[in-house]
Formats: sequence, C-alpha cells, structure tokens
Amino acid sequence: MRLDELLFSQGFGTRRLCAGLIERGLVSVRGTVCTDPATECNTDEPGLPFSVQDQPWVYHAKAYLMLHKPIGTECSHRPGAWPSVYSLLPAALRQRPTPGKVQGVQAVGRLDQDTTGLLLLSDDGAFIHRMNSPKRHVPKVYDVTAKHPLDDKQRDRLLAGVVLDDDPRPVRAAACEIVAPTHLRLTLTEGKYHQVKRMVAAVGNRVEGLHRSQIGGLVLPADMAPGQWRWLSEADLALLAS
Ligand code: URA
Repeated sequence: MRLDELLFSQGFGTRRLCAGLIERGLVSVRGTVCTDPATECNTDEPGLPFSVQDQPWVYHAKAYLMLHKPIGTECSHRPGAWPSVYSLLPAALRQRPTPGKVQGVQAVGRLDQDTTGLLLLSDDGAFIHRMNSPKRHVPKVYDVTAKHPLDDKQRDRLLAGVVLDDDPRPVRAAACEIVAPTHLRLTLTEGKYHQVKRMVAAVGNRVEGLHRSQIGGLVLPADMAPGQWRWLSEADLALLAS
C-alpha cells in the first residue's frame, strides 16, 4: 500500500492532507522519516509502526478497541448533556474512513450515561453486528450497586425471569449472585434498553450504580483506569468469539 493511502486508511485525514504531511517530513515509518507519498509499505506484516507529527501509531486493517467508559459520558456521536465517549479517543480513530456514511469506530451497543465499564468499539460492521446479535447470546456481566439490601427472593426472580413493560415475554438473568448485601453480579445475554435497571426495578429494588466488567470471556483489565482505551489483541478477540 502507498504511504499516503496507508495514512488515509488509518484516519489521518484526506489523501491530499496525508500526502502533504509526508512531503513536509512529518511522517516516519519504522523510525525513518519518509518524504515520498508513493513509498510502498507492506501492510501484511502485522503491527507496522509509523508516526505522524510525533504521534506513534500502529497500522491496523480494522480497528477493535476496548474503552473503560467513565461515568458521565454518552455513547453517542451527537451527545446531549454529557461528553461523548468518542471524545476520549484519538482523532484518527474517529476519522477512519469506513464504507457508508458513518466515519470512524462505533460503540458495540450502548451503555447509559451513568454506567461505567467495558465498552467495545470497532469499524468492522460485521463484528459489531455479530456482537450485538440477539441470536448469539454473548454474555455480559454487570456489577450492580442496589439501593436496598438484596435477598434470595429477588435473586431467584431475576433468574426465573421478569416481565418488562415493552414485551410480554419474560427476560431472565443467565447468572445472578449476591456478592454483598447491596452488590449484585448479573449476567445477561440480551441487550434491551435499560435492561439491568428495569429488571432490578421489577423485583422491587433500584440500581444506584452500574458497571460492566465482562463481555464474553473478555474481562475489563483491573489496571485500566476510567477513560483509558487500548487495541484488542488477537487473544482478546478469541475470548469474545468463544
Ligand atoms: N442495562 C442498563 O440498565 N444500563 C446499561 O447501561 C446497560 C445495561
């Protein structure tokens, strides 16, 4: 792939802008400044390192990311009252050219403004579709801080299934554990609107805090602070596929 095309594919601006950055000596490949936009780069080699205006980057044909979503952020490109989760990502990830109208990486499903934890993002439409598909039943683990102490009856009802106001078919937790008097760990395989909050309300309690700690076999790393993001490795992707 030509170097100007490579930069364009990674979200560093229009082809013309990318060619200009290269000609001005602002782009290095494997640590060497490269001033010819037509330079051929081998993108088959995994992890080709380059830098643009001193910003180090690694070539990824498709983007698969995890973000530790902080409280008070919206999973929307056009947020209302709160900052967008996309503002936590480098501009290149927001500008990656993608087929269709929407540019850049998209969140795989949404978390509420006041929910924290593991959020996946990608520019691979098929991956997003697969992860969101209700048929695949990808388990998601939520840690709930409840307003009132939890009891076995509430846990049993969540496991047996509760009826929410928009569907007569009951929704049930795939797993449910009372970890502490007001701490519930709930595993869901669907992704209905406000599902955790509505299920907990249906058994007579109230969600005061909500954190997603796991999707499939992928756990939010303990050393990832709220607001941090990183690329998913092949091993991470395998944990999502299993
Ligand atoms: N369920 C909710 O109620 N909110 C979330 O953000 C995610 C799941």
